[in-house]
Amino acid sequence: MEKRAPRQESFNSRNYFILAAIGSAVGLGNIWRFPYVAFKNGGGAFILPYLIALLAVGIPLLFFDYALGHRYRGSAPLSLRRMGRWTESLGWWQVMVCFVIGIYYAAIIGWAGMYTLFSINQAWGSDPKTFLMRDFLHVADTPGVGLDFVPSLFIPILVVWAVTLITVALGVNKGLAMVNKIFMPLLVVMFLVLVVQSLFLPGAGTGLDALFTPKWSALLDYKVWMAAFGQIFFSLSVGFGIMLTYASYLQRRRSNLVGTGLVAGFANSSFELFAGIGVFATLGFMAHNQGGSVSDLEGITGVSLSFITFPTVIAQMPGGALFGVLFFASFAMAGLTSFISIIQVVAAGVGEKLDLAPKKASLVVGVPAAVLSFALFATRSGLPDLDVVDAFINNIGVVASAIIMCVVVAWVLRRSRLLQDHLNAVSESRMIGLWWRALVGGIVPVLLGYMFFQTLWTYLSEGYDTYSSGFIAVFGWGMLLVVALCTAVMTLISWKTPVDEFEPLRLEAASEED
Ligand code: PHE
Repeated sequence: MEKRAPRQESFNSRNYFILAAIGSAVGLGNIWRFPYVAFKNGGGAFILPYLIALLAVGIPLLFFDYALGHRYRGSAPLSLRRMGRWTESLGWWQVMVCFVIGIYYAAIIGWAGMYTLFSINQAWGSDPKTFLMRDFLHVADTPGVGLDFVPSLFIPILVVWAVTLITVALGVNKGLAMVNKIFMPLLVVMFLVLVVQSLFLPGAGTGLDALFTPKWSALLDYKVWMAAFGQIFFSLSVGFGIMLTYASYLQRRRSNLVGTGLVAGFANSSFELFAGIGVFATLGFMAHNQGGSVSDLEGITGVSLSFITFPTVIAQMPGGALFGVLFFASFAMAGLTSFISIIQVVAAGVGEKLDLAPKKASLVVGVPAAVLSFALFATRSGLPDLDVVDAFINNIGVVASAIIMCVVVAWVLRRSRLLQDHLNAVSESRMIGLWWRALVGGIVPVLLGYMFFQTLWTYLSEGYDTYSSGFIAVFGWGMLLVVALCTAVMTLISWKTPVDEFEPLRLEAASEED
């Protein structure tokens, strides 16, 4: 099998790539986001918009990311620079978005790590909410930024950063691939035990009924469709430069990108569905204990689902310690493999621009990111900061960048035909056709554009959640402004690695060879 132009790093096997792609996709979005989003948006009926979103947006964009990274053989900024001179900045925007996400993702994984330990003796006692807010996070009474360090938060965050930076420093085979090889099978086994245990709880059936009973009328509500697109987008990690960077590490020409994308997309959704079953069986048990129904339960999303509601249920259930350890350890592992992918994108981008080996790149990127992570999330102000940053970076930052990417590639540079030919030339099936170009050049940007303006309008007119407008201005909009400035600075720095000494795959040759 012929090798392609040399790249500083590449995966030794395509299986590593698949594993790493699934490791990135399966994360907090599958465990704490999907179950609730599905429940709230039509239950069983949500499956329909969800599948359409997977097929119409998720997988086409995954192919798009794969094609860019595989063809131009670089992290997001390098690949985009090779595609067109001025598109490099789009790559830096994605890198900066990952940098910001990394800062808070580390904190959540650190909390899950601590809760794995707390589960053993159920340290939260009879009041998990007070335990979380007062005893563990020491949340300040008024949101803001302060340097009031909480040592019990500092140590887990430090561990998460250390593991991640060492992994990135070890390079893609010894680091990235190894971590995924260990954690992904472990995650699947632990989660399987957890789901089976949850199905035996009294009330599990009512929980599943609550999740899966279709409310068909929901299909007429546009918000349900938007929720489905939003979920798929976040869950598959598309539009963050992650899948693009991973695909650039594929050494072979015939990498079967199409087959691989389908495997990653369906594996992620299967895990998501599976998590939904586990979470709702458990909530069914909780409702059963309270003598109410699942829809009356409070705190079944995000931070409160994992760190308040689940501890409450764990305290009530037979074998609660085991359940707690399995849940929080799975949570931490799923999060860690996603987190590593986020930092890999940043380290690869910066490393290529400044010509740094993985070890150095990991330090140059990791140390400032970790310091910010401590300053913001190992302090008493952590919780509200996280919430606002998360909403703004994902709902505005990522969606905007995906829309611009699609428009630029399809309409300004007119490269979608080339990418289509590339995908077909390197894959076993030649199924990418006009339908794909119509999706990435038309339907996806229109759908995402609609979502984007809806969100933008809501944030501008009503603010976000209950936070004061001053706080949002600083944390939400201010953060996006900083991301934009850093994007500009990184784009202006000159390249230390050869950008143009690069020969893209000749497509006729690739399809003949096997
Ligand atoms: N896909 C991950 C999840 O489902 C989230 C994620 C988003 C990971 C962006 C990396 C980058 O939780």
